[in-house]
Amino acid sequence: MARSALLNVMVQAALKAGKSLSRDFGEVQNLQVSVKGPSDFVSQADLKAEKIVRDELLKARPTYGFLGEESEEEKGTDGAHRWIVDPLDGTTNFLHGIPQFAVSIALERNGEIVAGVIFNPATDELFTAEKGGGAFLNDRRLRVASRRVLSDCVIGCGVPHLGRGNHGKFLVELRHVMGEVAGIRRFGAAALDLAYVAAGRIDGFWEVDLSPWDMAAGLVLIREAGGFLSDMKGGTDVFSHRSVVAGNELIHKQLLEVVNRPIPSN
Ligand code: IPD
Ligand code: CA
Ligand code: CA
Repeated sequence: MARSALLNVMVQAALKAGKSLSRDFGEVQNLQVSVKGPSDFVSQADLKAEKIVRDELLKARPTYGFLGEESEEEKGTDGAHRWIVDPLDGTTNFLHGIPQFAVSIALERNGEIVAGVIFNPATDELFTAEKGGGAFLNDRRLRVASRRVLSDCVIGCGVPHLGRGNHGKFLVELRHVMGEVAGIRRFGAAALDLAYVAAGRIDGFWEVDLSPWDMAAGLVLIREAGGFLSDMKGGTDVFSHRSVVAGNELIHKQLLEVVNRPIPSN
């Protein structure tokens, strides 16, 4: 599989940051049993990974802007291009020694995401996509699942927790979705969740209160794998709306209807 020069830059940055996260993940597993726990250590791992990604990307394309979760946005002199990066998506998993986390890197051109890389160093799974070039898991071409009815589907989601999200609203969404599907999963790393939709591992996904770096790379992966996505209201501006619903064309439509069903009156 031939990758463009640009995608290669992104892959190299993701692999390098992934190596650092992998080493730190080993240490986190040891720190689980310490009294202090691994929290401070994990914040450092996160910052270190972002610095690695930033340095690699800006070395290759010094004029591009950079939006990373862990730092102030840097405007580039090239107004058309911006990197959007989550150096460690799935922090809670990482902190707890659960091997479901990833580095996520996307490239935005004139407001559109044109390339994305999501790398889970714990499983060595590298998801890549470039607009018009298809989506891949390592060297394998990806396609979203082809199930046609929600009743056959396994659907991923995010779940609000202490201090985060609208618990009541989520419970209504969950109540409606769980009555219609074959299974629900909450894996805890939104970038990987979207990559899993692209890979056909889950048939659909919805989550609210997400940031651009959680979604950016996954958006191009899903589109290039033949999938459909929107914000929770069916619109196209997932970044402003901070939410996403995804699946193949049919499942996206059905899931969107179900998550928006009104609160039952009883
Ligand atoms: C979080 C993960 C999680 C999602 C949260 C995100 P972080 O990102 O993607 O799955 O439910 O909304 O904030 O904090 O681990 O980078
Ligand atoms: Ca994230
Ligand atoms: Ca993060």
